[in-house]
Amino acid sequence: MEDLTPKKESLDAIEIASRDEISALQLERMKWSLNHAYSNVPHYKAAFDAAGVHPDDLKSLSDLSKFPFTVKQDLRDNYPFNMFAVPREQIARVHASSGTTGQPTVVGYTTNDLDMWASVVARSLRASGLKPGDLLHNAYGYGLFTGGLGIHAGAEKLGLTQVPVSGGMTPRQVRLIEDFRADGITVTPSYMLSILDEYRKQGYDPRKSPLKVGIFGAEPWTNAMRLEVEDAFDMHAVDIYGLSEIIGPGVANECVETKDGLHVWEDHFYPEIVDPETGEPVAEGELGELVFTSLTKEAFPIVRYRTRDLTRLLPGTARSMRRMEKITGRSDDMIILRGVNVFPTQIEEQLMTVNTLAPHFQIELTRKGRMDHMIVHVEATTGAAGQAARDASAQQLSKRIKSTVGITAEIRTADPGKVARSEGKAVRVVDNRPKE
Ligand code: DLL
Repeated sequence: MEDLTPKKESLDAIEIASRDEISALQLERMKWSLNHAYSNVPHYKAAFDAAGVHPDDLKSLSDLSKFPFTVKQDLRDNYPFNMFAVPREQIARVHASSGTTGQPTVVGYTTNDLDMWASVVARSLRASGLKPGDLLHNAYGYGLFTGGLGIHAGAEKLGLTQVPVSGGMTPRQVRLIEDFRADGITVTPSYMLSILDEYRKQGYDPRKSPLKVGIFGAEPWTNAMRLEVEDAFDMHAVDIYGLSEIIGPGVANECVETKDGLHVWEDHFYPEIVDPETGEPVAEGELGELVFTSLTKEAFPIVRYRTRDLTRLLPGTARSMRRMEKITGRSDDMIILRGVNVFPTQIEEQLMTVNTLAPHFQIELTRKGRMDHMIVHVEATTGAAGQAARDASAQQLSKRIKSTVGITAEIRTADPGKVARSEGKAVRVVDNRPKE
């Protein structure tokens, strides 16, 4: 793989500033942001007043823990525009979540916010190893989802040649990557696997593809998956993180030269880790729920937003800014099977160790008698489609899951191509348990 380390001169000065400089900037910006939210968003005024805190109480960064959390329900209660801190006429764009349950959540951006977003995405793409003049195949969905348009603006800001292909029409994805000679691809990791299948179907050797780096996010994926995709395409695979409530993609990104977790762009988004049960800050380096406070956003300032994502914070390496470890999963996706907590990423990790199975999977939850039961739907690779080979692979996976995760799962091995594919975020868990 090519060395894609960006030149030091190309980085933003703050990426490699001292911790003191970063903290001083954060404190100044946090004061502004809390005041802005309190003065302009009735929800924050009410929430701060109820908790007996005022923005002037923030004297140091650690004082932030005195302020109340914001949760998704607050956004729903203020649907559509009541969390905005500027008049609607000053909102240049809105994005929204799909809202599988009831109301979608709406977020807004001023032109300054859009510009800040583009610069953190440009920084993320540069950390991933892309440089001005490179060609980017952007296969995140365009529309209300922040993936497509968020990456789009950052790619323009960095000076890339962009192909705004969006998701879907997989045969065309392969054709355009090959014909246009893409240097990089931005896409969900699960959809990258569908593109990989399509490469093979069309008789192309993925290792000969022009791609040098894949920038994968919007859903959890493991280091085992990284190795699989890096090997399949002979390219780098790095992790990009974000959520619409904070800005979209570009909140944190891995550096291609280290691939040791995602540097949080802390000059704009202040991270904390709290105990998901008690809400108390955890000790440094401990696992817990990621919480963010925006430091510079105008339209939609957000204070201590509970992401539900589980990770830990680590000190900086390739940049001065702190890293978050690859996300284990969302607390919402955690399956409790007969008392054992299981994340789909743990199943993915084990699946990757069985080389007669393809990397696609879906977990189905059912009930057997009075007990919850987990079925993992997987696929044999084309070379191992016979019944005996399938049974052996299933047994191998089930053993590995039992010995590492500690649960008994039924493995069902389907024909190649039979496990549901995604064109965006994969649906990893289907809950078919009877409703009580
Ligand atoms: O998924 C933004 C995004 C687009 C990020 C493209 C990266 C690339 P939402 O649709 O609001 O925004 O979903 C946010 O997706 O809270 C996580 O649970 C999950 N997520 C996002 N990135 C990662 C990642 C976009 N790298 C939710 N690893 C977040 C694990 C991720 N989970």
